[in-house]
Amino acid sequence: MKKNIAVVGATGAVGAEMLKALERRKFPVGEVRALASERSAETKIGFGGAEITVEELREDAIPDVDIALFSAGAAVSRKFAPLFAGRGCVVIDNSSAFRMDPRVPLVVPEVNPHAAKKHNGIIANPNCSTIQMVLVLKPIHDAAKIKRVVASTYQSVSGAGWAAMEELTAQTRDVLDGMPARPRVFPHRIAFNCIPHIGAFLENGYTEEEMKMVNETRKILEDDSIAVTATTVRVPVMRGHGEAVNIQTEKKLTAARARELLSGMPNLEVIDEPAKALYPLAVDAEGDDATFVGRIREDVSVECGLDLWIVSDNLLKGAATNAVQIAELLL
Ligand code: A2P
Repeated sequence: MKKNIAVVGATGAVGAEMLKALERRKFPVGEVRALASERSAETKIGFGGAEITVEELREDAIPDVDIALFSAGAAVSRKFAPLFAGRGCVVIDNSSAFRMDPRVPLVVPEVNPHAAKKHNGIIANPNCSTIQMVLVLKPIHDAAKIKRVVASTYQSVSGAGWAAMEELTAQTRDVLDGMPARPRVFPHRIAFNCIPHIGAFLENGYTEEEMKMVNETRKILEDDSIAVTATTVRVPVMRGHGEAVNIQTEKKLTAARARELLSGMPNLEVIDEPAKALYPLAVDAEGDDATFVGRIREDVSVECGLDLWIVSDNLLKGAATNAVQIAELLL
């Protein structure tokens, strides 16, 4: 049974990957509509061997589709997702607009697929850093009950869209040419630099990105007793987020047992042969739907703790692939 699909933000970094994920995963698409801002109206995008014309997203022209994948930012989602849902379509929203709304399920299909069933027309796709982390936390929580998680992220520029990717390329060239680097998307130069600032700063001193990891992790794992803290950092990598994660559990897990549990998780691959210099890398994860985990070891500072390193392509499992997997749950 084919579904008519709209991709809102189809010309963006995530939107382009949503279209590719629908093709790659052989989603049973009927008609596909590509929507973006006025700027891109009438441009052409390839899909399924043909070309589709990008349409301007307008209140008075909401397309009649079964499923809409949104990736045009929170402001667009807040305004347009209810209009699409009101027409009987299911919106899968990649923005932060509805993630913490108790009426809106927040879904990672390998972790909490049951939650998707309880939607009221909108299902939220979690933040990229959260998705790859909960894939790892889920089997560990089920086996040993997680008490506390401390995450430090190394996030690529593609998480901030096309303009950010172009900024890294241009600044790298400028710095190598001895020219001044001009920050536009990021608050500081990103070429040859790391910036501990993703999203706005909040009153508690955390950034929005950090609090997304705290709150979304608990919602997806359906356990508010888990303590989570995070420091999120932008690094000069084009695609693929890395995360160093420390996990304290109630029951002791050996590194070997953790490796075994993680190996059993779908779409999660263990790469953990440090003696051969084998561990997950952003450059290897790029273009892959899977998430990768390695450097799995027992924390020497506490009785029941693990340290590990997680990498995933933020535009794929961290965004487009997870959204299309949610759509697959609706079939
Ligand atoms: P456009 O290309 O026309 O600006 P990215 O995350 O790579 O920056 O992409 C953002 C996506 O969201 C693009 O497809 C962009 O379209 C789209 N977008 C941004 N603002 C709007 C808007 N007001 N209405 C519809 N689409 C929008």
